Amino acid sequence: MNTDITYETGVIWQDFQHKQLIDLFEKIKKARSDEKEKDLYPYTTAFLAMYVNHHFSLEEEYMAKYDYPDTQVHTREHTAFLKELKAFRKEHREYAPEAVDDLLVRMEKWISSHILENDQKLGKFILSKESTDK
Ligand SMILES: [Fe+2]
Ligand SMILES: [Fe+2]
Repeated sequence: MNTDITYETGVIWQDFQHKQLIDLFEKIKKARSDEKEKDLYPYTTAFLAMYVNHHFSLEEEYMAKYDYPDTQVHTREHTAFLKELKAFRKEHREYAPEAVDDLLVRMEKWISSHILENDQKLGKFILSKESTDK
């Protein structure tokens, strides 16, 4: 997965927050292959829980602000991921190598199916609105 060139849209706050998630994913993926993931696991799950609430709210605020036509689909994906993460945290309260593997699969899927897809569409839309607003 090459995320370096494809996730940015030019919407600064959104690019910055996506980078935070992608960096964390790369970090825990590397830690897993070096067998150093045990300490990073609780941080990763805690960060994710905090991050998604804040990040999704902000994207949804912008969708409402600019009357984004795909709001329903986009918000539905956010809600589904929030639910998925909640279930994940309930199932894997403690560190286990399998929990990290499961989390890596879910994070990678989220990055490629949402950040590199619908978030890109949203970013381009926000950018077009902000350039005509000025
Ligand atoms: Fe999103
Ligand atoms: Fe996003």
